Amino acid sequence: DRSLKIAPSILAADFAAFGAECEAVEAQGADWVHVDVMDGHFVPNITFGPAMCAALRPHIRGTMDVHLMIAPVDPYIDAFARAGADVITAHVEAGPHVHRTLQAIRASGARPGVALNPGTPAEAVATLLDDVDMVCVMTVNPGFGGQSFLPAQTDKIRRLRQMIGDRPVHIQADGGIDPDTAASVVAAGADVLVAGSAVFRGGSVADADVYGRNIRAI
Ligand code: DX5
Ligand code: ZN
Repeated sequence: DRSLKIAPSILAADFAAFGAECEAVEAQGADWVHVDVMDGHFVPNITFGPAMCAALRPHIRGTMDVHLMIAPVDPYIDAFARAGADVITAHVEAGPHVHRTLQAIRASGARPGVALNPGTPAEAVATLLDDVDMVCVMTVNPGFGGQSFLPAQTDKIRRLRQMIGDRPVHIQADGGIDPDTAASVVAAGADVLVAGSAVFRGGSVADADVYGRNIRAI
């Protein structure tokens, strides 16, 4: 199913109203909700953990897409799966045993994704394409929302789509995706687009129609 999916990242939402923000973006057309977990070690920022995911679960009807920017990953997989994560994405750079991590995510009942930082070549996941449901290509350096899109990552997306072939594997573009950059990553083969600032900017739970307009513009 390569129909385009928009996954708003709640990193750009009101941190004091996450439940209502998830309901608002879903009501306004979001396909997935992207939850950016950061540990202040793998990336220079700290956000939230499994308890937040569990609290958000009742407010997300669709796919809860959990992006783990943490190291190590393995000790926390079951907690995120129990919290209700549908997709759990780990970074290939997070440790020496990414294949085992992906097996553990699959065993937890969640769908495994693997993420690549901008400095990591597509070939780093060549041996993992039968073990994941999704490859997340970071189109910014991880840690913060609102950064500028890195155009060179489009070539990586194209290369990955070629490597994936006819496997049922999503390619997610994550970072700096907005109406000006979405077309290039979709043309290259991305079918899940994460967008934080491009979705939440200018809107609020009280003015959620803005979210719908922003989503449709991507
Ligand atoms: C960055 C996160 C991204 C980010 C996207 O580390 O993984 O998901 O929140 O935010 P925007 O769309 O504002 O770049
Ligand atoms: Zn993310």
